[in-house]
Amino acid sequence: MDINNIRKDFPILEDKTLVYLDTAASSLKPIQVIDKLDEYYKKYGVNVHRGVYNLSFIATEQYEKARRKVASFINATFEEIIFTRGASSALNLVASSYGLNNLTKDDEIIVTELEHHSHVLPWQNVSNITGAKLVYLPLDEEGRITIDNFKSVLTDKTKVVAVTHVSNVMGYISPIKEIVKLAHEKGAVVSVDAAQAAPHTKIDVIDLDCDFLAFSGHKMLGPTGIGVLFGKKNLLKEMPPIEFGGDMNDNVDKFDASWKDAPYKFETGTPPIAEALGLGAAIDYLENIGLENIHKYEIELKDYTMKKLKEIEDIEIYNLTTDTGIISFNIKGVHPHDAITYFDGDNICMRAGHHCAQLVIKWLEVLATLRASFYIYNTIEECDKFVSSVKQARDFFKSVGF
Ligand SMILES: Cc1ncc(COP(=O)(O)O)c(C=O)c1O
Repeated sequence: MDINNIRKDFPILEDKTLVYLDTAASSLKPIQVIDKLDEYYKKYGVNVHRGVYNLSFIATEQYEKARRKVASFINATFEEIIFTRGASSALNLVASSYGLNNLTKDDEIIVTELEHHSHVLPWQNVSNITGAKLVYLPLDEEGRITIDNFKSVLTDKTKVVAVTHVSNVMGYISPIKEIVKLAHEKGAVVSVDAAQAAPHTKIDVIDLDCDFLAFSGHKMLGPTGIGVLFGKKNLLKEMPPIEFGGDMNDNVDKFDASWKDAPYKFETGTPPIAEALGLGAAIDYLENIGLENIHKYEIELKDYTMKKLKEIEDIEIYNLTTDTGIISFNIKGVHPHDAITYFDGDNICMRAGHHCAQLVIKWLEVLATLRASFYIYNTIEECDKFVSSVKQARDFFKSVGF
């Protein structure tokens, strides 16, 4: 990987002072993705599936080509890929369509405290409406999901397991394949939140054998406003749409209507066309570099930074054994929002807060954390700059009596 060449693809990095360590929230965008959006709007920026004219055929072809690209990216089939607004709407779709229509008060839903709000709140809603019981998988002492702990909550009543592939706070990779195998033995379906996995690791839905899997475009070099839900064909076939309107319907009568097959019955209205094309370009970009190379490089940056951070006094790190490029930490006695303001002064962008995952923040028994997350455009020099800024922040806040 030639990092300097990669950096040249990201127009925002023309500002050489910028250190962007907030990819877990949203990645930067390369020119190839920006150009694809531009191409759509300049050359064939019309609606899909509707117009019987050449431009609309081109737009439709490009949109469906992006779907094929996504399908091949995770080893799914074309019909199993639904375009959504983001990972959140994809995960909500599973809960509202599958959950509300298949669960009853006698059933159980396994969730974890590592989940992002978008993978726990939809199931809380299902639980409140259907009476199905939410069961929390106990995390181990490091905050990880283990198979033994999973087995301790898996019962004949389990109907759904909602689990994150990679935690957005701890950076741990969950043992998805084993979870799926055990869940299937009990007849339960597994919904995987892959928002933090898709940008960094190769996903193969056939190998994982998961039933649903969701991710967002904007965390993997793609545009905002586009996400993906993968669902197994046989499940999508039985699931009802949750939004109704144009393009998702077949025949419409006064008091009744019928729906197209998946994925279209779940994509009502004008879809995010430019965004889907941009996601296709992002996938090309990632595949060109290779997910394995990306993961390896992030780990290099993370290991380098973690080692240096550990040497600084008064730094509390919450995920010392993280599996990905995410470091969650605090400067002892300093509120993360104060620290983040200090880093911003050095043009270092990071995240402070509960990261939309309050359950794990409560599990850690802290108010909030600082989170640094690394990606392909970061450099060792930036890691040094970041570590130096952390030291200076610590010294500054100590000197003013924190
Ligand atoms: C693990 C995880 N799941 C889901 C989401 C939600 O993604 P989006 O905001 O793109 O819908 C995020 C975003 O931070 C995330 O980190």
